[in-house]
Amino acid sequence: MHKLLKLVILVLAVTPCQSITDRACGTDVTRMWLDIVFVVDNSKNMNLYGVYNTISNLFSSFTQIGTGYSDPRSTRVGFITYNYNATDVADLYKLQSYSDLYNQIQLLSTTPLSRDSHSYIDQGLGAAIRMVNATGGLRDNYKKVVVIFTSQYDYYYSYPEDQAKYLKSTGVTIMTVNTGGDDNTAENLRDKIASTGMAFAMTDGNTTAELQRALLASWFLL
Ligand SMILES: *[C@@H]1O[C@H](CO)[C@@H](O)[C@H](O)[C@H]1NC(C)=O
Ligand SMILES: *[C@@H]1O[C@H](CO)[C@@H](O)[C@H](O)[C@H]1NC(C)=O
Ligand SMILES: *[C@@H]1O[C@H](CO)[C@@H](O)[C@H](O)[C@H]1NC(C)=O
Repeated sequence: MHKLLKLVILVLAVTPCQSITDRACGTDVTRMWLDIVFVVDNSKNMNLYGVYNTISNLFSSFTQIGTGYSDPRSTRVGFITYNYNATDVADLYKLQSYSDLYNQIQLLSTTPLSRDSHSYIDQGLGAAIRMVNATGGLRDNYKKVVVIFTSQYDYYYSYPEDQAKYLKSTGVTIMTVNTGGDDNTAENLRDKIASTGMAFAMTDGNTTAELQRALLASWFLL
């Protein structure tokens, strides 16, 4: 990104710290220029415990979700679920307010897992590539982040590491959260999918805090 624009953004980002309605500046992801796509495994054996709470806690009711605000520091959020196939639950145009986001998370968190036990991460990654691509030309200066939650590592149609490499080559940061206890999954997510230092696990402790730190870090590295 252009240095001057970056500087302007940084100044904008620092200013609201004076406002009493804002949360602590160091971990404030409510005032970033972000497009986030959450990719959540919903196959039969997925450990979904805490996933939607973690996502929900990333945002506060002060977060400007969607577009069209007079203050351009807004966040768009998309959701994809996958098992043998991926589903675009919400593209980056759908959720246009914090309450839209809240309702979408409530709906997802109460939707039962698929009866299908296949969990093809390449399907989730492919859908994420298409969702990010479909927004090309609009908000190109907003950092793109893909966050994947799964407890298993399997694929069928494409090599996930190639898809991840492609996404990262277009400037997208990929974060992974291993929601189960399988070491092989953790290793594959870390070595083949996640951006450097962006592979997390629900068992690490406070995943919301980890993701918030990572979102801030990825944004400043833009
Ligand atoms: C998988 O999902 C895509 C996109 O939703 C759809 O176009 C395709 O037909 C689906 N494939 C199968 C085998 O259901
Ligand atoms: C989307 O995909 C098309 C076709 O592959 C490509 O030409 C274009 O650059 C992509 N756009 C983005 C924003 O990645
Ligand atoms: C986890 O971190 C978030 C964000 O920093 C914080 O709001 C929340 O209270 C923490 N949760 C726990 C259980 O400590």
